[in-house]
Amino acid sequence: MKNKNADVIFNSSHIDKILKENSTHVERKLKSILNERDFGILSKPISYSLLNGGKRLRPLLCIESAKIFDIGLKKSIYPALAIECMHSYSLVHDDLPSMDNDDLRRGKPTVHKKWDEPTAILVGDALQSLSFEILVDKNLKIEPFIKNELIYSLARNSGASGMVLGQALDIKAETSKTKITIEKITNLQSYKTGKLISWSCEVGAILSNEDRSPFKKFASCIGLAFQIQDDILDIIGTSQSLGKKAGKDKYQNKATYISKLGLDGAVKKNKRLVEEACEALSLFGEKAENLRQISHFIINRKN
Ligand code: IPE
Ligand code: IPE
Ligand code: MG
Ligand code: MG
Ligand code: MG
Repeated sequence: MKNKNADVIFNSSHIDKILKENSTHVERKLKSILNERDFGILSKPISYSLLNGGKRLRPLLCIESAKIFDIGLKKSIYPALAIECMHSYSLVHDDLPSMDNDDLRRGKPTVHKKWDEPTAILVGDALQSLSFEILVDKNLKIEPFIKNELIYSLARNSGASGMVLGQALDIKAETSKTKITIEKITNLQSYKTGKLISWSCEVGAILSNEDRSPFKKFASCIGLAFQIQDDILDIIGTSQSLGKKAGKDKYQNKATYISKLGLDGAVKKNKRLVEEACEALSLFGEKAENLRQISHFIINRKN
């Protein structure tokens, strides 16, 4: 997977295999978490929003970042499931009429379309709590101070110092009277998409109480690349291939890199970001190869 200049060569069949195995495993575990609990009248909409074919990329980042420190699935599956609940909640709320007003998500009607708005709000709330419930599971046997740090950092990265702040800036930018600068777009996206991705990449270092800075650097590059690719796909993809409505960002006046750099500029920016991301993990050598492959997948993905 490397040429003689040590550049990473994207091996799409390898990453497809990893993603597929990861999705199967994560979905099996999510199902058993839901089966162990009785959510009453919210059971169906919660299962619907969680078990509906996402790529499960954030869980994969948690699991691969833990592998670098020789931490196996027995531990890393808990943060992996927790972040998928958090991410799924963010999507249910992102699609609400008062946010992006979307009818389609992961190829199916959004929760507020299938049920109603109060149900979608409550499903999001419930998934957020479930995320923390999973992190404090007694079967996740780690030192209390590490568990504390996992919980604290997830709260910071998901709340008003993280993803939620990014969503607020995204919605505000839609109606801004002045033209948004590239610096502001970068800042907005680093919260909106970047913070949950960053936590996923830092999980291995948190679990092993090691330096998180190389993972923060890697994540800041792939988080931005991930959102830029999302914005590119909004233009070049179809609703069918994306499983969500295509072509909405321009219509909703969303602050995207493409609105500033054009499509070609955004594609070039993404290539540079992935090079930088791979470089950030150079000290981990071969152990970080899967994470490097994932960074390439992020800018090559079609949905
Ligand atoms: C979509 O995330 C929302 C953004 C943060 C841009 P994903 O593309 O990871 O969505 P799923 O989980 O695969 O559906
Ligand atoms: C969503 O970004 C980010 C979060 C849910 C935090 P987008 O609004 O661009 O995601 P899509 O395109 O609806 O999936
Ligand atoms: Mg949005
Ligand atoms: Mg949206
Ligand atoms: Mg989008």
